[in-house]
This record gives sequence, C-alpha cells and structure tokens, in this order.
Amino acid sequence: MDFNRYMAEKKRLVELKLTSLVPEDNKIPVITEAMRYSLFAGGKRLRPILALMSCELFGGPEEEVLPFACCIEMIHAYSLIHDDLPVMDNDDLRRGKPTNHRVFGEGFAVLAGDALLNQAFETIIGIIINKPSHEYIRAANIICKSAGISGMIGGQCIDLYYEKKSIDVDTLKNMHAKKTGALITASLAVGAVLSGAEEGDIINIMEFGELIGLAFQVADDILDVSGSENKLGKKINKDAEFNKSNFISFYGLEKSEEIAKELVDEAKLKLEGYGSRGRYLCELSDYIITRDE
Ligand code: IPE
Ligand code: IPE
Ligand code: MG
Ligand code: MG
Ligand code: MG
Repeated sequence: MDFNRYMAEKKRLVELKLTSLVPEDNKIPVITEAMRYSLFAGGKRLRPILALMSCELFGGPEEEVLPFACCIEMIHAYSLIHDDLPVMDNDDLRRGKPTNHRVFGEGFAVLAGDALLNQAFETIIGIIINKPSHEYIRAANIICKSAGISGMIGGQCIDLYYEKKSIDVDTLKNMHAKKTGALITASLAVGAVLSGAEEGDIINIMEFGELIGLAFQVADDILDVSGSENKLGKKINKDAEFNKSNFISFYGLEKSEEIAKELVDEAKLKLEGYGSRGRYLCELSDYIITRDE
C-alpha cells in the first residue's frame, strides 16, 4: 500500500478510537467540549501511528496497541493545550484554529489539559484491571515516564528556563529529546512491548525513536522560521519572538537542516535488519524532515 494511503487509514483508525475513548458528557459544564475541541482539531496523529507501525513491525495485535496509542495522543493534545497558554508560548492558533484558551478561557484550558492527561491514565488502568498483564503494566510505565519530569514535562521545563538565556549544545539536545523525543520514543516502545518484541528489538526501536524524535523537533524549529502559517496551522517566528533557545538560534537554518538529515539517515540504519517490514517507518522518517505541516 502507498505510504500516504497507509497514513490516512491509520489516522482514521486512531480518530475513531479516540471518539469512543473521550465521549461527550454534558453532566459537567464545558470540560468535555474543551477536551474534544483540541483532540479533534486535526493533527498528524504521528505518535499513535508510530505505535501502530511498531506493532506491525513486530507482528503484534493492533487492537491491543490502539487504545494505548490513543492515550499517548491524548497526552500529546494536553501538552499542546498547556504549551499554548499565555504563561508558556502564548499562541493564538493551533492546527488552524484558535487555541483552546482563546475559545474556552485559560481556566478551562488548564482543566481540559489536566483532564486529557487523567483520561489517558484512567483508560490505561481500566485496560489493566480488565486483563492484568506484565506487558500492559510495562507499557503504562513507559507512557508515565515519557510524559513526566524525565520526559515531556522535563523538556518543557528546560525550554521555559532557557528563554532569554544562552544554552549549551548538550542541554539543547536534552531539551529536545525530552520535550518531543520522549513521547515519540514511548510510542514506538509501547508498540514493541505489546507485540512481545525481543529486548534487543525494543532497545533498537527506542534508539530509532530517539533519533527521529530529535529530528522531529529540529524540523519543528526549522518550520518555525521557514514554514507556512497556513500549512502548519500555527503562527511562525514564535521562537525568536520569545527568545527561545532552539536549533535555529544555536546553529542557524542551514546547519540545522543538515543535522536533521543526518539524524534521519542514522535512524534509518536501525531499520536495516527488518527488511521490507521497516518500509513505512523508513518513509515516515523522511516525512518527518520533509514535511511542511
Ligand atoms: C507539535 O507536535 C509539538 C511538537 C512536539 C513539536 P506535532 O507537530 O506532532 O503536532 P500535531 O499533533 O500534528 O498538531
Ligand atoms: C512543544 O514544542 C513541545 C511540547 C511538548 C508541546 P513547541 O512549543 O516548539 O511546539 P509548537 O511549535 O508550539 O507546536
Ligand atoms: Mg513550547
Ligand atoms: Mg509552542
Ligand atoms: Mg515549535
């Protein structure tokens, strides 16, 4: 199947599942509307698709990976709602629409983010209670850690702290690895763990994730200066406006493009042992740095 069709099919699957995992509930005012507003505002669904690709690579059961994959997307959606708040990046546009706080107010945006995070773990614990298994618990642990202070939240803290400050290269890479790489790596790891992959394969696919995760954020930094607002669905030149430390402020555009390409080339080497089964992951790696959205 052609890559674009494959991506569209997986995206549809993810969105269908998300609809049932985060239903409308009018018993409490505003909250589910605010949650669903951001969750269904578009988005590439890259993280859940990565989990499904990893599952396919290791011949796992897609229906078992899908809800975990969707929980990672819920956590991603929450991270974006909070990232856009005035106290963080102060963005008005996300996925081509007004940001959550612009529609529902800051209080509800904070709560919608919190609720999406909570919903993710309620869903995961529900799955574990229904059918306790070591793999499910391990997957839950991977997701917890990737979202927390050693992962996404930690990266966002470094990001905030280094606004208007000079950064060194190791801290810069660590910031990107955490704020963006962690959830991407976790997605691949969860797909592998729930598919019963060998330990060596789990490590390998996580190393692949670290490389494309870093490349993904370098590409995000590049798109912030060279992308189109229409295609990206978010404002550009925001990082410079906030004096953010990122790959562009550190290396400039040309060198950042070179680095992103090198990271993806190195990542693709990790797929060599899997033959044609690694094809979609390979194409996705290229897409990560050639995308305009
Ligand atoms: C945006 O992530 C935030 C970053 C971690 C760079 P995506 O570019 O995956 O956003 P959506 O989900 O497609 O909107
Ligand atoms: C955000 O990074 C990463 C998150 C964990 C949400 P950015 O702040 O660069 O993401 P965009 O550019 O707003 O999507
Ligand atoms: Mg940010
Ligand atoms: Mg931002
Ligand atoms: Mg950005």
